Amino acid sequence: MTPSDRLNLLTSHLSATSHKMSDSFFEQVPLAPPDVIFHLTATYKADTFPQKVNLGVGAYRTDKGKPWTLPVVKKADEILHNDPNLDHEYLPIKGIPTFTAASAKLMLGADSVAIKERRVAGAQSISGTGAIHLGALFLSKYYPKGAVAFVSNPTWANHKAIFNNVGIEVADYPYWNPATRGLDIDGFLGALNAAPNGSIIVLHACAHNPTGVDPSHEQWTAIADVMQAKKHFPFFDCAYQGFASGDLAADSWSVRHFVDRGFEIFVGQSYAKNFGLYGERCGCLTAVTRDTVTAKRVDSQFEKLQRSEISNPPAYGARLVNIVLNDPVLFAEWESDLRTMSGRIIDMRDKLYKKLIELDTPGQWNHIVDQIGMFSFTGLKGR
Ligand SMILES: Cc1ncc(COP(=O)(O)O)c(C=O)c1O
Repeated sequence: MTPSDRLNLLTSHLSATSHKMSDSFFEQVPLAPPDVIFHLTATYKADTFPQKVNLGVGAYRTDKGKPWTLPVVKKADEILHNDPNLDHEYLPIKGIPTFTAASAKLMLGADSVAIKERRVAGAQSISGTGAIHLGALFLSKYYPKGAVAFVSNPTWANHKAIFNNVGIEVADYPYWNPATRGLDIDGFLGALNAAPNGSIIVLHACAHNPTGVDPSHEQWTAIADVMQAKKHFPFFDCAYQGFASGDLAADSWSVRHFVDRGFEIFVGQSYAKNFGLYGERCGCLTAVTRDTVTAKRVDSQFEKLQRSEISNPPAYGARLVNIVLNDPVLFAEWESDLRTMSGRIIDMRDKLYKKLIELDTPGQWNHIVDQIGMFSFTGLKGR
């Protein structure tokens, strides 16, 4: 074969390949950029610098920078593995019934009127993300067409994507005020007033991600006033109950306040942070509705949607949480573990604040201690 034959052969091979490529079923698929947070974690892991610190991912770490398995989770794990009846059968479509019931009780309070009146529906979900997804999917089917979901600006990166994925249009409401490094309550209330009646409003129940700024009780009351007047639908995202302040009731005050006022709500719960069960993907979607009949209808749709989405949820994490939530002694131990985690975060904020003051750092730093949870908008600008 002469060099020119070889060249011809190569050219025809390449054109055949590129012909095949251009015929690809996936030709129109653009290359998506990597997820910023998960990409940062991968880069962090690959970095060999000994004093590296990962400030990106929202996961609790010990003083040594290590993940922490909660002592109560270790106990529940032992109980689970020693259970002679343990098997690996499918869970029911909506998950473990005692788990969803205990999750509603945890969120709404043991003496919740909505629970007593049996107007609560719930489904076990793939952690908090799955709870929001299931709720959003439900709304995409049964909420009035054209309804817009409003999310805070800024918000957790996934909120917009989750609603967009199910075809719900998303808009922002102002939240962060850079001047005060606090809540832009006037902007927030103004946007709620300006939104079309009956909009979906996504609210962070506590420990707002990413600002660490939560409304006060007074501000929550004002938010509820406007939402009630405008007939907006509150969709709470609760990823940090007990993890924010160490007090389960305090961290669900907003949700309970809305329910006390007669709102119908969705609330998505995550057990990633407060149980340290990040990878076990354990959460719950709870709906509070007007009456029992409505709750039954909503519940039946949760089951129908869940069946086609994931068939049934994963068992392990939910079994651990189910053991702890339904045992008073373990529950008390869990509360103590929560105080350990939240206490350490509060203490770190305090230490950072004191050091900044001690060093006479120019500027105001009280937002470091006023903000809550594991996220902080420092007000520092990148270079
Ligand atoms: C505000 C908020 N919502 C929901 C989630 C969902 O987390 P997961 O799906 O891991 O439970 C997170 C996690 O960081 C979050 O910060």
